[in-house]
Amino acid sequence: MNVLIKGALLYGEGEPVDVLVADGEIRQIGTDLGVVDAEVIDARGQILLPGFVDLHTHLREPGREDTETIETGSAAAALGGYTAVFAMANTNPVADSVVVTDHVWRRGREVGLVDVYPVGAVTVGLEGKQLAEMGTMAAGVGAVRMFSDDGHCVYDPLIMRRALEYANSLGVLIAQHAEEPRLTKGAVAHEGPTAARLGLAGWPRAAEESIVARDALLARDAGARVHICHASTAGTVELVKWAKSQGIAITAEVTPHHLLLDDSRLETYDAVNKVNPPLREASDAAALRQALAEGIIDCVATDHAPHAEQDKCCEFAAARPGMLGLETALSIIVRTMVEPGLLDWRGVARVMSERPAAIVGLDEHGRPLEVGEPANLTLVDPEASWTVRGKDLASISNNTPFEAMTFPARVTATLLRGRVTARDGKALGNRAEA
Ligand code: NCD
Ligand code: ZN
Repeated sequence: MNVLIKGALLYGEGEPVDVLVADGEIRQIGTDLGVVDAEVIDARGQILLPGFVDLHTHLREPGREDTETIETGSAAAALGGYTAVFAMANTNPVADSVVVTDHVWRRGREVGLVDVYPVGAVTVGLEGKQLAEMGTMAAGVGAVRMFSDDGHCVYDPLIMRRALEYANSLGVLIAQHAEEPRLTKGAVAHEGPTAARLGLAGWPRAAEESIVARDALLARDAGARVHICHASTAGTVELVKWAKSQGIAITAEVTPHHLLLDDSRLETYDAVNKVNPPLREASDAAALRQALAEGIIDCVATDHAPHAEQDKCCEFAAARPGMLGLETALSIIVRTMVEPGLLDWRGVARVMSERPAAIVGLDEHGRPLEVGEPANLTLVDPEASWTVRGKDLASISNNTPFEAMTFPARVTATLLRGRVTARDGKALGNRAEA
């Protein structure tokens, strides 16, 4: 069915226009488009953006379907305005073989709410010892284009060097969870005054920064690209800035929670605030916001990490790290970046859609809002205000750190190749066509 979006502001700019979507594409942009036989979306006062792309999502299938599935995570993604997500490899079994990566891709297609791109593991079992068969995964139907041991760091410099060289020859990207494990043994919180006072074992900034610096140099020597997952410190910003100034092909993402929250949240010992890397200090969050505005940090990635209640509601040290993120990401970006004037809506399109799509070389996502382009679109009500309730989110798990907080802006509709996948708070069913 055709869709007619009436009266939207493209990138929040200029005069309202009508956008006709047909056959999965933007067919016409104009004023007063009248079309019979189209689903009409009244978009007055709303902003049309290219569909969001998340380079860092944990969907927990296979293995922990009690906490999230490809179906429920896809619904959360569509509701959050996403048209493409990258599903991390730390499943059970690990996505270190083409059997698993192809399954994830196929299941994503069957559900049909968002394009689910499987991330392949860099090393067998995420153990950091032996390279996984990246070439086979890249050649599968899931066509893996990004590899990561996320949850674990590829800590051995020789393995990382080989991974970068191999990835380079395959034309794929390595995304590094930067954490020198010998500096974070037993760590549960950012190493600083708060953790010291609360008696929590500290995760020093240097554990992240030393790997970022090392990998920048390895990428330089291999002539390869490297992507830094969930940058969390002011020092990482400085290192990425330096590496880019040297012409090193490094990119980096930041999560909404690292832009908004800091380690003062730990005072309650509520493990909903436990995450890897940990919430840092307010000065780190400020540096990350500035770096995202300036393009030193390329994009936002949610690190959506669902966890069961029994894995979160327990003593701090025993709890699993991770937070939900897909449905709250846009609102947090508006709160931290748009409201203070660090980004305009075109900037939001850049950090949530265009840059992430470019980093992994997607040609259907992150495209301009122009006639003939694929209709992967997100419609946002900038005037909306809503209060987060974990139990109302589409994820099976409820571990949002934003519980009961009120935020601006809400996704009102998402379109994937011209099909409405979410509208007015409802994810729209199984419309498989693969
Ligand atoms: C992630 C998870 O739960 O899989 N947890 C987290 O705290 N971020 C793994 C990861 O992204 O490191
Ligand atoms: Zn990680």
